[in-house]
Amino acid sequence: MKGGVIAIDGPSASGKSTTARAVAEALGFAHLDSGSLYRGVTLVGMREAARRERGRKDPLAVVGAEAILRAAEDRGLMLQPDGAGFAAYLEGAPVDAEIRGADVTARVSAVSAVPVVREWINSRLRAMVRAGRDVVVDGRDIGTVVFPDAELKIFLTATPEARAGRRINQRGAPVDAGRLEAETAALAARDQADSSRAVAPLLAAADAIPLDTTAIAFPDQVRFIVELARPIFGQR
Ligand code: DC
Repeated sequence: MKGGVIAIDGPSASGKSTTARAVAEALGFAHLDSGSLYRGVTLVGMREAARRERGRKDPLAVVGAEAILRAAEDRGLMLQPDGAGFAAYLEGAPVDAEIRGADVTARVSAVSAVPVVREWINSRLRAMVRAGRDVVVDGRDIGTVVFPDAELKIFLTATPEARAGRRINQRGAPVDAGRLEAETAALAARDQADSSRAVAPLLAAADAIPLDTTAIAFPDQVRFIVELARPIFGQR
């Protein structure tokens, strides 16, 4: 049996992952973070690059996308069920901390712009849903490309200033005017790049429900989505 899908898309730092996880917990669904697969593939590429040319970590230039994907299969990159979500494993060891580090973050954007990488990841995501679990999937193109038939689609937004403030808070730094200005500019530039790239640009699906979280509290945004989901999915 195919599982049900709630798709949550939106720009960087819009709170997709934390929202998706809380919605999944409230509904008894699993949270599937598509970004973690993009990050995992990037880490595979960096390790392959370092094996081939010590000290060089640019995976696309040193290894190439096709060879990175072969290495991802050979070295067992996978998401394994873990509590309310999935944990990323590579070479038999958990890599969740490493894929969220600065090295991977600096390179994931280029890797995720390669069409064969996107196709490989999309087929993995679809296979996980065919396996039958109900999921809340978050990403950039979940409602448009990966699961266009998702039963519920949400497009999260917030002003660049609000997202910048949250990002700085997450890092534990004080939110002063200088930091806010720099982070807001960085997010606006990333939004522009993500929305204008040729392959799977960040775009709200026509049937997605927009949710602007700039001025609402986190528990309220979670409740909003859970209340939309209950009549669609009923008791599962
Ligand atoms: O959500 P995140 O920061 O973990 O995403 C990591 C990168 O992967 C980010 O550069 C955007 C990309 N990504 C994507 O292109 N499509 C997705 N469905 C999810 C992530």
